[in-house]
Amino acid sequence: MDLTEISSVILHHPSGSVLTSHLACTILCMSGLTLSILRTKRTNLQRRIMLIVLCCPQLYDIINSYKPEYVWSDGDWEASDTYWRSKEFLAWLYNDSPVRDTVVVNDRWGVGDMCHHGGVYTCADRYNPGVLQNHKWEDAMTIDKQSWGYRRNTTMADFLTMDNLTSILASTVSCGGNMLMNVGPTADGRIDPIFQERLEQMGDWLRVNGEGIYGTKPWRAQNDTKTPQIWYTSKPGLTYAIVLEWPKADTLSLGVPVPTEETTVTLLGLPGVKFSWKQLSVDKGIIITIPPLSVSDLPCQWAWVFRMSNVK
Ligand SMILES: *[C@@H]1O[C@H](CO)[C@@H](O)[C@H](O)[C@H]1NC(C)=O
Ligand SMILES: *[C@@H]1O[C@H](CO)[C@@H](O)[C@H](O)[C@H]1NC(C)=O
Ligand SMILES: *[C@@H]1O[C@H](CO)[C@@H](O)[C@H](O)[C@H]1NC(C)=O
Repeated sequence: MDLTEISSVILHHPSGSVLTSHLACTILCMSGLTLSILRTKRTNLQRRIMLIVLCCPQLYDIINSYKPEYVWSDGDWEASDTYWRSKEFLAWLYNDSPVRDTVVVNDRWGVGDMCHHGGVYTCADRYNPGVLQNHKWEDAMTIDKQSWGYRRNTTMADFLTMDNLTSILASTVSCGGNMLMNVGPTADGRIDPIFQERLEQMGDWLRVNGEGIYGTKPWRAQNDTKTPQIWYTSKPGLTYAIVLEWPKADTLSLGVPVPTEETTVTLLGLPGVKFSWKQLSVDKGIIITIPPLSVSDLPCQWAWVFRMSNVK
């Protein structure tokens, strides 16, 4: 299924916690909202009994009731997939469950599975290879640079900025990945205003630029060769250049696209303005002219997406 259309997510921790989050995709692009749960460690026997008695029926029940589009397992490193009975669960999920034709899962189903088995490879926390991958993957990361859960002792410097987050999103999507942006709720269930602000800012950015993210495919090149900090995505007939730094000059030179006579260039969020362009060299590249724009003309604050039609 298309990861960009996910609207509900179930988070499954093998130690027994199962959470649903319908919020996940409405808030974030191609992502889930992970709620971290800290639990006291149980003995192996207690855990196994809980797994069989509580976790599995609860997980099956929740899938039957909520029909999630994405099942995200975690905590796998504590034991093998045999111990967690992951194969039995996944066999049921893909063969007999009500979501068997649509569901996707991640890769955290037992020691050694991560990055080798599963639907979406998460590999390591904050995995971001920077080059195209041949298997669907995800950058599972948190806005707090150090913690998945809420902590009271954070300072401003501990939070990723919107420049950081748009950069992670652009590089991830260009390379065929999915971004999971985590926030840790407080013990009494609140979302701290700094996290709320980042989530809303990401929503603001996607409202303008989602066309270059949702439903896109990796292009033949992931980043530009001439100008740094530019990542590409594509749709049929369209190539999107996600520009992380607004051009300092009145032109933007791109080394990879090969324009044709039908090529038009626009900026997402600035409808009606066609940017003129010329070829960079005889066989490839394009120089886009940036017209004088005032700050208030710019459709967003952090990363800008140029849409080029009919480039090769
Ligand atoms: C902040 O608190 C967490 C526990 O919530 C602790 O693990 C961490 O070491 C603390 N960091 C600093 C810089 O005090
Ligand atoms: C966040 O952005 C700042 C400023 O551009 C940069 O110095 C820093 O390395 C970035 N941090 C991460 C984790 O991307
Ligand atoms: C971008 O592409 C070039 C090759 O054109 C490569 O050398 C570079 O490391 C890539 N990654 C980034 C983050 O710029």
